[in-house]
Amino acid sequence: TTGYTTLDGGFVNTASTSSAITYIDGDAGILRYRGYPIEQLAEKSSFLEVSYLLIHGELPTTDQLADFTHRIQRHTLLHEDLKRFFDGFPRNAHPMPVVSSAVNALSAYYQDSLDPNDPEQVEVSTIRLLAKLPTIAAYAYKKSVGQPFLYPDNSKTLVENFLRMTFGFPAEPYEADPEVVKALDMLLILHADHEQNCSTSTVRLVGSSNANLFTSISGGINALWGPLHGGANQAVLEMLDDIKGQGLDVNEFIRKVKNKEDGVKLMGFGHRVYRNYDPRAAIVKKTAHDILGKLGAQDELLDIAMKLEEAALTDDYFVDRKLYPNVDFYTGLIYRAMGFPTRMFTVMFALGRLPGWIAHWREMHEDPTTKIGRPRQIYTGHTERNYTEVSAR
Ligand code: SDX
Repeated sequence: TTGYTTLDGGFVNTASTSSAITYIDGDAGILRYRGYPIEQLAEKSSFLEVSYLLIHGELPTTDQLADFTHRIQRHTLLHEDLKRFFDGFPRNAHPMPVVSSAVNALSAYYQDSLDPNDPEQVEVSTIRLLAKLPTIAAYAYKKSVGQPFLYPDNSKTLVENFLRMTFGFPAEPYEADPEVVKALDMLLILHADHEQNCSTSTVRLVGSSNANLFTSISGGINALWGPLHGGANQAVLEMLDDIKGQGLDVNEFIRKVKNKEDGVKLMGFGHRVYRNYDPRAAIVKKTAHDILGKLGAQDELLDIAMKLEEAALTDDYFVDRKLYPNVDFYTGLIYRAMGFPTRMFTVMFALGRLPGWIAHWREMHEDPTTKIGRPRQIYTGHTERNYTEVSAR
């Protein structure tokens, strides 16, 4: 059940795949990108530098980072026809299907960088995705609020550009708050990769058929949307809003969760791998206090979140099941303080996870032993039986 032997005596592992990109120790609460602890990267690195590290395996030199940054800045524009693509969506569409559709459409507009076996085309599609996803995400937001799209300003950093295209207006200058830029850059680092999670496994499985990078990433964005995965950051805010709106006592809500009333879960808690505090959640929790304080956005929902965490961490139901806050528990509060609507939270997750998805897709093509084999199954259906005419059924 862990795989199958091939006719030439080889063995295809279908239970889990190997990778040299990210290491997680779920019991100890350890997360490292290419060997570097997440705590050090969050404190000292930048999202673009971490993107380079994940994709190329080493921290870049000054020249390598400058070249990487310059190449990305030159690809931030979307094809003019692709900008009109957004007109076809209803204004009230959730931004995730808009973003995943636009990313998939890159396969139609940039047909000169689709071959997964051509290293140059792989590098061009990598740079195009890193450069254009912030533009696509900002346009999905502008479409949802009926405001004009802004062209990228390549004199700005990737995060500054994204914030300007999201919250800026053609009629007036926009300068992003440096505190917001710094906090968002760090949040993107925290989301940049996480081993073989649902969406990354989707990117690898789609890519394993030699489908191009754009369409593989589009598949990952779709998988991320699920509320049990990346959609959880939106679900946490909706949960906190419900508790506040209904005037629910925190302990009353915890009781409902423990009794599994209406299938309610403590969103932002629990993890398939971490059986300890998610190291990213600890960093995000501190940032939530810092950024909310700096922005003067005293958020009643933060108080509710902290009371929920305090109640859950001392309750046997959660302790026995090793349920701790995960990366999604506090991030939504920060995105909200930055001005993003709840439905954009999972788009923010995708922005952060993009370099990790790309790194895994490239690793699979560079080292086929890391390829997810065709998953097999244990058949539990009928044994052979003969067809019966409808008159005899
Ligand atoms: C992400 O894989 C990754 O790395 C993902 C991610 C990444 O960076 O890519 O880290 C990002 O997806 C984080 C997870 C975000 N999702 C949520 O916050 C949604 C809420 N969490 C759960 O749905 C759940 O915890 C999962 C899906 C995340 C993990 O589920 P598990 O570990 O498979 O646990 P399970 O579903 O088998 O449940 C075990 C028990 C059950 O109770 P019993 O049947 O034993 O009585 O724990 C309970 C569950 O009901 N449980 C919860 C719970 N999570 C599990 N009970 C209440 N609230 C919860 N959140």
